[in-house]
Amino acid sequence: METRISEIADGIYRLSTFVPQIAPPAGFTFNSFLIRGEEPLLFHTGLRKMFPLNRDAVAKIIPVAELKWIAFGHYEADECGAMNEWLAVAPNAQVAHGATGCLVSLNDMADRAPRVLADGEVIELGGGKRVRYIDTPHTPHGWDAGVMMEEETGTLMCGDLFTQLGDGPALTTGDVVGPAMEAENLFKYSALNPTMAVTIRRLAAFAPRTLALMHGPSFAGDGAAALGALAEDYERLTASARMAIAESTAA
Ligand SMILES: [Fe+2]
Ligand SMILES: [Fe+2]
Repeated sequence: METRISEIADGIYRLSTFVPQIAPPAGFTFNSFLIRGEEPLLFHTGLRKMFPLNRDAVAKIIPVAELKWIAFGHYEADECGAMNEWLAVAPNAQVAHGATGCLVSLNDMADRAPRVLADGEVIELGGGKRVRYIDTPHTPHGWDAGVMMEEETGTLMCGDLFTQLGDGPALTTGDVVGPAMEAENLFKYSALNPTMAVTIRRLAAFAPRTLALMHGPSFAGDGAAALGALAEDYERLTASARMAIAESTAA
């Protein structure tokens, strides 16, 4: 396995590791994003067992010991499995996450106390970069779920939203909604809930110009339109789940 590095927006680096054994024949990518600033931030630690690959990739961009912030979508192995490995090699680094994630998992699981972020709170990274944390409970899964928006470049770090199979390009202007629905139908990774579309439309209001997908290519273009289309698809899925419930109770 190798971890490839691509700059997908000014000062934002995608570290991508393709695993052909997952969901063959298409395979599956795991992506972390490094935001360069006076206080560099890594979004997704990667799996614990992939730590050497991701550490060596980060080291090609900045000295690993200078990493300041470790953030991720929610508490799962691919999002934060290597959290403590990063804390060990970056002595000034701190995990930053929403209140639910900190209270439920991170206050206990992180080797140093995390910074608790309120919904909408901003971390100034310096060098023009600033990230806003946004709570997205149960979207696509995990009650601690959240995303981050880097506001200088308009890059939304989507976590598992828009998850797709395959090893596409680092950056695409093509469709990211259709492939996400294919992966949804295969994996059923989302916790379908009545407010899911509302949560996704709230992200659309930030009008991102780049969508940084954890599993898939990054998307350059009208992020609000892509999020709006994703919200509509999830509305349809949630409605058909409701119909299935109604049919099962009527039977
Ligand atoms: Fe996940
Ligand atoms: Fe993930």
